[in-house]
Amino acid sequence: MASLFQSFKERDNVKLFLIESKLMKDNLVLIIDFGSQVTQLIARRLRELKVYCEIHPFNKINDEFIKTICPKAIILSGGPASVLDDNAPTPPSIIFDIGVPILGICYGQQIMMKMLGGNVIHGSGTSEFGKSFVKKKNKSISFLKDFFKDNNEQVWMSHGDHVSSIPSNFEVYGVSENAPFAIIGDIKKHFYAVQFHPEVVHTLSGKNIIKNFLQLANVSFDWNMKAYLEQAVHIIKEKVRDKKVICALSGGVDSSVTAILIHKAIGDQLTCIYVDNGLMRKNESEEVIKLYTDHFKLNLIEANEQQLFLSNLLGVTDPEEKRKIIGKLFIDVFQKYALEIEGVDFLAQGTLYPDVIESVSFSGAPSVTIKSHHNVGGLPKKMNLALIEPLKELFKDEVRLLGKELGVPNKFIERHPFPGPGLAIRCPGEITDEKLNILRNADEIYIDQIKKHGLYNEIWQAFTVILPVKTVGVMGDARTYDYVCALRAVTSIDGMTADYYQFDHEFLSETATKIINNVAGINRVTYDITSKPPGTIEWE
Ligand code: XMP
Repeated sequence: MASLFQSFKERDNVKLFLIESKLMKDNLVLIIDFGSQVTQLIARRLRELKVYCEIHPFNKINDEFIKTICPKAIILSGGPASVLDDNAPTPPSIIFDIGVPILGICYGQQIMMKMLGGNVIHGSGTSEFGKSFVKKKNKSISFLKDFFKDNNEQVWMSHGDHVSSIPSNFEVYGVSENAPFAIIGDIKKHFYAVQFHPEVVHTLSGKNIIKNFLQLANVSFDWNMKAYLEQAVHIIKEKVRDKKVICALSGGVDSSVTAILIHKAIGDQLTCIYVDNGLMRKNESEEVIKLYTDHFKLNLIEANEQQLFLSNLLGVTDPEEKRKIIGKLFIDVFQKYALEIEGVDFLAQGTLYPDVIESVSFSGAPSVTIKSHHNVGGLPKKMNLALIEPLKELFKDEVRLLGKELGVPNKFIERHPFPGPGLAIRCPGEITDEKLNILRNADEIYIDQIKKHGLYNEIWQAFTVILPVKTVGVMGDARTYDYVCALRAVTSIDGMTADYYQFDHEFLSETATKIINNVAGINRVTYDITSKPPGTIEWE
């Protein structure tokens, strides 16, 4: 994200940041990330409590940053490092001087103790990982309201080191077998710290601790989508003023909600471009265009470039090559149409919060590219546009809520994800018109079946794949020699890992029969039961 951002106009960034700070961040809880696997869950828990928060990595935070954003409260996350290391990740000490409540979690507890005069030791042989129990100690405090159901509360631990002594203004309120300072606090300053992870569901009453902490910090619990929508419209108006914005629409939830939101704020100053690459599902382009133009009255350019994409893909069988061709053509086409609009200053993108959280990397090792995804992020620097990303504070389910608030029909909000390269990567081997049509017909039947059985919202993503093999069959006493169709359906939280969906056999046989009876060109159907890993969700 950083490099993408830098490639656009920097001139407005400071000003825009201040506008956003003023409007969005009056009630901000800052989560300082030290690289824990579960930091995002802290944000999830806060959002569930209707509290606005942001995660920032420890190494991007300095005194000026803290003074600018003026958090109402600060949470220090867990992390894989040891505070006993020479270069232990450390937040700026100003956080302890600005008079706001602080909650330290695991590594966050330990670094807090190290900085405030306590002590931390390596717990050789006394680590705790997974389920553990904390016993109550000393008097009851507001921070622990509704936490201990009896005197032995289940929590989730993940630590090697532990705190071995605390400063005199702190007291102990809970102990576990290997963490003598499992819960500590300085109730005057509202500094609290826990060795366990209250943000994970295995800490049964963890959410109560988080809620109590936020109440002690006088944070308001009123962040909701209606408020977000009003604020976002205001910010977009302030940002864009009388300038023009362009947006690439794909029909997916993120780009649709982005465009409809921006349109609500600035009307016809927004022009959307829909690139029809000939790789969409049956009737998809028509439905999407109808929604945007008839229903939402967006200013839409339809770029019908089916032939361009399909002719460039002729004879291409390598998945990465397909992706690269489609990605490059998309950028060329988008740019061609965008340049016809005069005086554009902004490019709108449906970037979501998980994409912008800068992860804390201790290894610095580059990750391996499994597949090259494409989106408008690759647009050339020479377009020189500032970015406008109104969803960048939201998680996927929150985008759906925002879509509902904007009146986007459920059918579009609840759509399964669809990849940028479209049907090209569901057609292993050569892409031909014949195969694309067979695939479209089979996919329509499969998705209809899933909807008819009320399973669509239980499944994260479902689609058909046409395999580059023909097999022999027999239909009405005649020999057939047709393609094989694979059905795929997965459950997942974020697409990073996935499991296959367990349909019952009746559903599978009914669907296979319907596809074979109704789609000429297919005489065999299989069901893909591979999880991710080792498979990926798409076949290419
Ligand atoms: P894989 O196949 O990598 O897919 O397990 C994970 C999720 O990402 C989607 N996907 C893409 N989305 N451009 C996109 O916008 C792409 O190039 C792309 N490739 C895969 C896939 O559909 C699944 O939801």
